[in-house]
Amino acid sequence: MTTTALVPDPMDAPAVRWGIIAPGGIANKFAEAVADFTAGSVVAVGSRDADRAQQFATRHGIPRSYVGYDRLVGDAEVEAVYIASPHSGHREHALLAIAAGKHVLIEKALARNATEVEVIFAAAEQQGVFAMEAMWTRHLPHIAWLRDQIASGAIGDVVTVTADHGQSLDLPADHRLKNPDLAGGAILDLGVYPVSFTVDLLGAPSEVKAIGRLTETGVDGHVAMVLGYSGKTIAQIDTTLWTKTPTSAVVSGTAGSLEIVGGDFYAGGRTVLRRSGGRDRAVVEEFQVDVVNGFQYQAAEAARCIAAGLHESPLMTWDSSRAVMAVMDEARRQVGVVYPGE
Ligand SMILES: NC(=O)c1ccc[n+]([C@@H]2O[C@H](COP(=O)([O-])OP(=O)(O)OC[C@H]3O[C@@H](n4cnc5c(N)ncnc54)[C@H](OP(=O)(O)O)[C@@H]3O)[C@@H](O)[C@H]2O)c1
Repeated sequence: MTTTALVPDPMDAPAVRWGIIAPGGIANKFAEAVADFTAGSVVAVGSRDADRAQQFATRHGIPRSYVGYDRLVGDAEVEAVYIASPHSGHREHALLAIAAGKHVLIEKALARNATEVEVIFAAAEQQGVFAMEAMWTRHLPHIAWLRDQIASGAIGDVVTVTADHGQSLDLPADHRLKNPDLAGGAILDLGVYPVSFTVDLLGAPSEVKAIGRLTETGVDGHVAMVLGYSGKTIAQIDTTLWTKTPTSAVVSGTAGSLEIVGGDFYAGGRTVLRRSGGRDRAVVEEFQVDVVNGFQYQAAEAARCIAAGLHESPLMTWDSSRAVMAVMDEARRQVGVVYPGE
């Protein structure tokens, strides 16, 4: 099957002039995706540090670098800002960009909590700009295929979604993932993927149950969540900073199942449709596409929405981001993780 039937070629999306706030680890991947796989370009980068700004600009061939995020958002050429600061900074940095009239693509997790999410969306609505959580998985071809299969009834009614995201991360105690001041923890960094995957397929749950284990720094190191839906449907999610888990996703229905096998369900992999009849789990169809980088799909979606004058993406709606954050807020409440100043 060709991917073009499922998702538009990112290269065909309108060209957007991007600015980047916070050139840390993941911002490199975004800059490469925009340059290599879209018609757009990164025209400016802003860092808190002059050397970091300059080095990032040089590495990616970006024409202008700024010290200070306020100067980046003041660049008249910049149409949209990709925000890649720690979760604790997303609200402040999104508001800065929105106030300057820029569209925003904000890294996951969208903010620390639901209150901050509402503040961001209210500001975007008031300014009339586009805002989207950078949950890149939503825009990938294998997820589009999986959604199509479910919508066409290929596996019947969904009974269970099982998805996990654990990484074996040997991190120093002051790393952002362990730091409550930077809104660290497994849920916001890793668990957000299986939570968002589940919400994408099933919507907002009616029940959330969570069991957690905390790090010595007081953020969540391991959390298991069960999300309850109406009727037969229950989802199970596991996330941890302490071990590499299969990072797989399985959706089982009354007539079969869909499995994203081979690891990293959020990034690609082989999507296998199994149709079961009793104990028979024979594979009836497989879908595989090689995705290089992958961030270009979300950049292209933002570009199409901006060109169409939309404020939110139909694939990553504001309500969907709200539902994801509500689950994570409730799970954090149950396992006892509160960030300073919340
Ligand atoms: N989509 C994905 O696959 C993916 C993967 C990893 C991370 N992420 C998300 O991307 C965001 C950034 O993650 P990352 O791994 O790139 O983090 P990182 O390497 O630590 O970079 C974050 C950058 O934020 C800036 N920053 C602003 N205020 C800061 C503060 N108080 N403390 C530390 N840094 C601060 C820093 O840049 P300057 O000082 O130079 O301005 C820093 O380099 C998070 O939301 C994370 O969840 C997404």
